[in-house]
Amino acid sequence: MPTASAPGKFILFGEHAVVYGKPAIALAIDLRTEVKAERSSSFKLDGKPMRENRSFYIREIIRRWKGGPVSMEIKAGVPPSSGLGSSAALTVSMLGALRSFNYPAERESIAREAFDVEYTVQGGASPTDTSTSTLGGAVYISEKKESNFRWEMCKNRRFWNVHSIDIPDMSFVVGVTGAHSSTKDMVDRVRRVVSRSPFGKDVIEDIGRIVVEGKRALENGDLVRIGELMKENHELLSLLGVSCEDIERLIRPIKDMVYGAKLTGAGGGGSVIALTDKPEKVREILEDRGECAYIVNIDKDGLIIK
Ligand code: PMV
Repeated sequence: MPTASAPGKFILFGEHAVVYGKPAIALAIDLRTEVKAERSSSFKLDGKPMRENRSFYIREIIRRWKGGPVSMEIKAGVPPSSGLGSSAALTVSMLGALRSFNYPAERESIAREAFDVEYTVQGGASPTDTSTSTLGGAVYISEKKESNFRWEMCKNRRFWNVHSIDIPDMSFVVGVTGAHSSTKDMVDRVRRVVSRSPFGKDVIEDIGRIVVEGKRALENGDLVRIGELMKENHELLSLLGVSCEDIERLIRPIKDMVYGAKLTGAGGGGSVIALTDKPEKVREILEDRGECAYIVNIDKDGLIIK
């Protein structure tokens, strides 16, 4: 019975701007989704008929699948609609499990199909989440090919070059707001800002510059600069209208004791990340206020197929 699992992620720098071909840096985290698949007489998910399933991602994966009826079980370990790449972890692990029926699943083609699935469901996406979930570790997306290049993705004449990069040892705390947002709605919101105003386009350019500087700060192991850039990135995302009170409520009590904190992913709720050398303390401050917080470690494996 093929079993595949894939990690969630957070975006350290560059969400939203990456949809417009700007660079981004994302880190896979040690929260995983696992999918087990077996041949069956009808399509089933967690023991129920597949048609009762409401996930657009699963429907799209099954629409593309030509291998006959399967029964699948999902163990979802990434909090849903929280900016932590739950849909990418699900898509990558499900494709990994399904493809293993026919031939040894190959990472690049799974990352490509997973990106296609997200792009179709969301009506626009970058390959950041799906490539990071597939590769694990730290992933740098850029307009140009650089060292440790893995693959290139293209949609609508826009190109993304995906690289694996080395990062220094860092501790992160993720705060989950509990407010769910749809990535599609947030991407649409930013699209309206960018298409209507030169200001929106300037913000996207500025985010792109922060990512390039952030990559340099990571190479230098300069946690202070990384934190400053996280704050700047957050301010720019706020200007695009994707922060909200749920996010600010989590950043306020910790902002003076961390290197930097920002929203991560689509925004409008979802999660906040904080770079800190006192992760237990930061988690405690958030938990004492009734918030949900995790200390996350970087996942080095990406997609695992057994
Ligand atoms: O919130 P998430 O985990 O779906 O991340 C979305 C990241 C965006 O840059 C807003 C969209 C994308 O496809 O890159």
